[in-house]
Amino acid sequence: MGFLDGKKALVTGIASKRSIAYGIAECLHREGAQLAFTYQNEKLKPRVEKFAGTFNSNIVIPLDVSSDEEIKNAFKTLKSEWKHFDILIHSIAFAPSEELQGTYIDSVTREGFNTAHEISSYSFAAMAREARPMLNKNASLITMSYLGAVKSIPNYNVMGPSKASLEANVRFLAADLGPDTIRVNAISAGPIKTLAASGVSGFRGLLKHVESITPLRRNVTIQDVGNTAAFLSSDLSAGITGETIYVDAGYRNLGMTFVTN
Ligand SMILES: NC(=O)c1ccc[n+]([C@@H]2O[C@H](COP(=O)([O-])OP(=O)(O)OC[C@H]3O[C@@H](n4cnc5c(N)ncnc54)[C@H](O)[C@@H]3O)[C@@H](O)[C@H]2O)c1
Repeated sequence: MGFLDGKKALVTGIASKRSIAYGIAECLHREGAQLAFTYQNEKLKPRVEKFAGTFNSNIVIPLDVSSDEEIKNAFKTLKSEWKHFDILIHSIAFAPSEELQGTYIDSVTREGFNTAHEISSYSFAAMAREARPMLNKNASLITMSYLGAVKSIPNYNVMGPSKASLEANVRFLAADLGPDTIRVNAISAGPIKTLAASGVSGFRGLLKHVESITPLRRNVTIQDVGNTAAFLSSDLSAGITGETIYVDAGYRNLGMTFVTN
């Protein structure tokens, strides 16, 4: 028996076995949730279908969040499989790679700023709206953020403002959906080597730096994030909404990075 027995979860954002969404799917599945998946494009379809099979799921739905129509259709398709569901995992972000290097002031463009916000932040609100009529009581919506939402981080650039917007989205959605007993939270994960992260210039150096000074002296894993997502998906976290929960081995609590041992 797992603590998510009987719950149904839609998981977005799997691109590879290293994806944070993959780690979340593993943990939700282990705790007994039934899973459905989305894929961004035809190239990713066979991969996501294969992963879905390993989690005993045959619900695999196209969803490119740059299209309103595709967002609507994805939930229509899901409805033909499940009338209602309980968990929505939003693990999607994008910014043009040219804007994830150098200084923010020199790299940011109107188009890149809009794209990063649309794909990485607006899409969460758009999906929440389409999901709403299908959500059971005690449903939980979870998105993925990063420290760049609240602190400046070299090369993270335009993704910082879009994660700040995403965290604000979480608070507004939590206020709107709370009266229906639906909770909305973000997990702010420490750096993890994934396809999206590789787009941030100097990412390997960042991983090494964090590992050397973070209180737990290690980087986090997709399973660390997955276990927290499982908790936030479950009734064990029934009193938590509108929050950003840090899964970063303690990094954000450091006030000084001078290491004495
Ligand atoms: N890896 C890290 O260090 C880290 C840290 C904190 C937060 N995050 C966040 O975690 C989330 C998942 O990223 P990840 O690191 O697992 O990388 P990833 O590359 O494995 O996943 C990113 C996903 O976004 C999807 N995506 C991008 N544009 C899309 C679109 N238009 N429509 C639908 N899907 C689209 C991709 O298909 C991919 O599945 C992102 O929000 C990312 O910002 C990552």
